[in-house]
Amino acid sequence: MAFSKKTIGNDIIELDTIPSTNNYAADLLRTTNVQNGTVILAHEQTAGRGQRGKDWHSSSGQDLTFSIVLYPEALPAVKQFYLSRVVALGIFDHLKTLVNTDVSIKWPNDIFVDDKKICGILIENELNSSEVSQSIVGIGLNVAFAEASVDFIHTSLQFEMHGELEKMDLLQGMLAAINKRYQELRSGKFVRLARDHANALYLKGRWTAFDLRGDVVRARILDVEEDGRLTIETEAGKVVSEGLGKLRHILYGTDILK
Ligand code: BTN
Repeated sequence: MAFSKKTIGNDIIELDTIPSTNNYAADLLRTTNVQNGTVILAHEQTAGRGQRGKDWHSSSGQDLTFSIVLYPEALPAVKQFYLSRVVALGIFDHLKTLVNTDVSIKWPNDIFVDDKKICGILIENELNSSEVSQSIVGIGLNVAFAEASVDFIHTSLQFEMHGELEKMDLLQGMLAAINKRYQELRSGKFVRLARDHANALYLKGRWTAFDLRGDVVRARILDVEEDGRLTIETEAGKVVSEGLGKLRHILYGTDILK
């Protein structure tokens, strides 16, 4: 049965200190045959990368930073946002089993606990004609109870759980949850993935501020399109779908997280 199949995490490469697990995976892919679902875990990253060219800082030895190499079978390039949905939903599913407060997916794929970011995802796809031939999925989860990991826009798992966690157990739990969602993708459960992702969205249906093409509007999220664009309805009753370059939540009175 497709559901019980394990693609992700059969091979785990565990490293102490490297610049970035996404870069390490990319280098490895250039020189070696890497098995589908291989995980690269670093206990410390010295040059972690975030979305849109930003740096990603994590606490040495404590946070969970890893990348997964995937060769999605016959996933059309126009459906590549499903990989984002799969990964965000897997993390969302697992974190919900660990914390009692509200877990959500902030569009497009940050993971929030209440109103704070706990996890970031950096997916780097390679396209082969019209399909996704290879994907490097980088995940950075704030785990440490360190003061530096928790402020008014970020939180950490140990802070939310008020307790200790065994890092490798946490990794295995996350991989199993992402694998489960990945098997849904492999068996074509597009409707379920889109519905679950939409239902998990941070602030869905609530009137909040957005930056829409440089204008501040009050709007509410209606849905996410197949290509990943967010569909909102403005207070003036206009329905608009836009990508990240043109549409952003305005949180905390400013746009710190982007
Ligand atoms: C973001 O929210 O901006 C995405 C952050 C992604 C960070 C992870 S940590 C593991 C992997 N390696 C990197 O260099 N980045 C990703």
